[in-house]
Formats: sequence, structure tokens, C-alpha cells
Amino acid sequence: MKIGSEAHKELFCYSFLDNHRQYEPEKLPWPELDEIALQRLRAIPFWATALATEQKAGAMINAYTKTINDPLVREAISLQGKEESRHARLIEFLIKHYGIEIVPPTPEPLPQNIEPAFIKFGFNECVDSFLAFGIFKLARLSHFFPEPLFAIFDTILDEEASHIVFFINWFAYLQVSQGEESKILGAGKTLCYYGKAIKHLAAITGNPNSQKPEKSFTFTGANTFIDTLTPQAFLTACLEENTRRMSYFDQRLLQPKLLSTVSKVALNILNFLPSRPPQSRTVKL
Ligand SMILES: [Fe+2]
Ligand SMILES: [Fe+2]
Repeated sequence: MKIGSEAHKELFCYSFLDNHRQYEPEKLPWPELDEIALQRLRAIPFWATALATEQKAGAMINAYTKTINDPLVREAISLQGKEESRHARLIEFLIKHYGIEIVPPTPEPLPQNIEPAFIKFGFNECVDSFLAFGIFKLARLSHFFPEPLFAIFDTILDEEASHIVFFINWFAYLQVSQGEESKILGAGKTLCYYGKAIKHLAAITGNPNSQKPEKSFTFTGANTFIDTLTPQAFLTACLEENTRRMSYFDQRLLQPKLLSTVSKVALNILNFLPSRPPQSRTVKL
């Protein structure tokens, strides 16, 4: 499969379109929660952020769709916009259904340069999703919530996995179609975008009081779900879950690789260091 070819474009677009699931958030089998689960859900600090992020993503991608000339790429990116908007509706429904109190997010104006905004969002999603896969696995294993609630969020993570695989292939296709076929230049550009995404995440996590809508709910979520955890266990969960979720995609497609490569290196280093007792990061209800 030649990356950037018409065959490549058809593969990543049709794979994405075929992965789409039909559902309406309001009709999902939302479980009844007992008092403990309700308290846990209401204590999670990231619902307003998650809602704002998904609403902003949906609006931005829907606007970007209108600027795309290629009908197949437009159809695929339009579907991603619909899925992000559906994520927003799902979170909105959850907030109302379980009586979670939030300050409603204020809609933000659309970015002026929409394609760079879409690219930045795509790399942020690659970073966030890798970490979210691990956090979700650990939370699910600890039975933090009843399984039916995890099943609903599993669908969202499946969709996010689909978004990042689509994105990384679309980005490579875009580079080739714009004449940037040099592997070194292409890798440099990708690394630069990843660097910005990680810097963005680091800036956010360094400021836990930030109320900005783009604040990553992945990290604020980690502090909620994870009780006592070693960095090794966390990275192992992220890597295992990333490998499992990526294994469902056509292996001819590109996959986001930077986070898994860096995590493997970090894990090897950590395994050589003398072990320290796990640090408590959260108060579990
Ligand atoms: Fe989303
Ligand atoms: Fe997404």
C-alpha cells in the first residue's frame, strides 16, 4: 500500500465510514446507579471540560468539512464531526440523567485557520486517546462503576480509536498530496505536532485549576479513577490497551506510534530503577 495513493485514501476513508455505529445517546441502556456510584460520578471533575471539548470539536470539524473538495474525504470528516457532536450530546445526556452539577460551557468562536486547527486537534486526540485507553482499562478493572456504564464509554473510546487512525492516515495522505513526500521532512513535521500536543498536555496538567475548555479530561480523569498506581502499571495498561484497540484496524493502515514508542522506552528505564512504593493520587469514594 503506497501511502498517499488513491488506494490508500480509499482504504482509510472507507475503513472509517464502515466503522460507524448507529445509536442515539438518549436511547442507550443507561444503568440505574446506587448512591456510591452516583457520588463517584458526580465527584468526577471533568464533565464540563469533556462537554466543552466535544462541542468545540464537533463545531470545528463541521465547519472544516465545508472547505474540503475531495468528496470521499469530505464524507469521512463530516462523519467524524457528527460523531464528536454525538459525544457532546451523550455527555450532556449523562449530566442531566444523573443530576451532575456543572457550569455550562460558553461556546467559543471557530478558529480562523480551520485546517491547522483540525490538525492540532488530531494530534491532541492521539495523545489523549493513548492515555485514556489505559485509564479506562484500570478504572474498569477496579469496578469503579457498574459494567453497563463502562460499556457505554467503551463505544466512545472505540470511536476515538477510529478517529486517530483515520487522522494519522489522512495527515500522511495530505502531506503527500501537497508534495511533501520526503520521509525525513514528514517525520519532522509529525514530531513537531506531537511535541506541541504533549506540551499542551503538560501545560494543562501543570495547572490543575485551569478552567479552559480545552483542559484535557484525560489527566483530570486519571486523578479521579486511579487510587494507588505505579508509573509502570499505568504505562503497561496504556500500551496493552492501545495494542488491543489498534489490532482491530486494517494493518495496512498507519497507526499513531509516537506515544507507544516513548512509553516502551520509559517502561524499560523504569524497570531498571529501584522500585518505590506506589503513590496515592486520589481519594476514592
Ligand atoms: Fe469525541
Ligand atoms: Fe474524536
